[in-house]
Amino acid sequence: MSSATAIAHPNIALIKYWGNRDQRLRLPVNGSISFNLGSLSTRTRVTFDAARGEDAFILNGRPVHGEGLARVAALLDIVRDMAGLSQRAEVHSENDFPTGAGIASSAAAFAALALASSAAAGLDLSEAERSRLARLGSGSASRSVPGGFVEWQAGDSDETSYAFSIAPPDHWALTDCIAVVSSVHKPTGSTQGHVLADTSPLQAARVADAPRRLDLCRRAVLARDFEALAAVSEQDSDIMHAVMMTSAPPLFYWQPATLRVMQSVRAWRGGGLPVCYTIDAGPNVHVICPQDAALRVSERLKALEGVERVLTATVGGPARLVVDR
Ligand code: DP6
Repeated sequence: MSSATAIAHPNIALIKYWGNRDQRLRLPVNGSISFNLGSLSTRTRVTFDAARGEDAFILNGRPVHGEGLARVAALLDIVRDMAGLSQRAEVHSENDFPTGAGIASSAAAFAALALASSAAAGLDLSEAERSRLARLGSGSASRSVPGGFVEWQAGDSDETSYAFSIAPPDHWALTDCIAVVSSVHKPTGSTQGHVLADTSPLQAARVADAPRRLDLCRRAVLARDFEALAAVSEQDSDIMHAVMMTSAPPLFYWQPATLRVMQSVRAWRGGGLPVCYTIDAGPNVHVICPQDAALRVSERLKALEGVERVLTATVGGPARLVVDR
């Protein structure tokens, strides 16, 4: 038996990943930029065991079957291939953030799984190789492998599509105040969404303009220029949602409270508060601000009609191995 445990954080994209040029390899049509959400994490233990007949996946104490298990087993198959191993594994995963709060958990889940399973299989992978492996489980998971502010270069092959840090966690004290407006499970997940992206007539324009937005965002992060970051990340999120809303079938993730938060954030910024929003494939709004404004921002968010609760996270470190408990 061999076992390893890893911790990884979710991440929030400032420039979004939406659409793949290769669905199986998860080679995205454009690069993306994110930061890790330090105060939220997934802890995953992988144990390969010669006595096991099949893989098992236990999430927050409950066995997962069907598609969820198949996706985990597919990543374990890749690791077994790489390591020349045939043993099945038991995977125990725990999120310390509320499941169903609309925080994408697949990024943290597959970053932790890639690290724990490769270590348990005896592989000694570089950070880029771990990021590539995590990408095969979930695209955004490639960005949860390195620490701090991270760019996933689209690349054009399995070897060239991986993420790396552009700045460490302490480079810029930003906070993500996540306004939870609905904890209902989303009707269409990202994996199906990526397949639909090309059915929108707006996707080609979104992709063609992506290098410009990536450049603006990278510069804003490196220069700690909040105003520039706010402009480009809100535009990038709005463009992605325009693509979603105009795909066939259309994906419309916003609720009335989503728009209320977006409009409030813009009004607050107009009034001098440094704050901006970005939204993933769901109705909840990630409201980004410098850490010293986070208390004011979350108080204001909580006072808005339709905001169920607010979770906060600061910029986090890389996925890492930890000692088994
Ligand atoms: C809207 O990484 O969840 O959050 O590769 O199918 O697992 P899969 O998709 P996923 O897509 C994330 C989409 C997004 C934007 C982003 O995080 O960049």
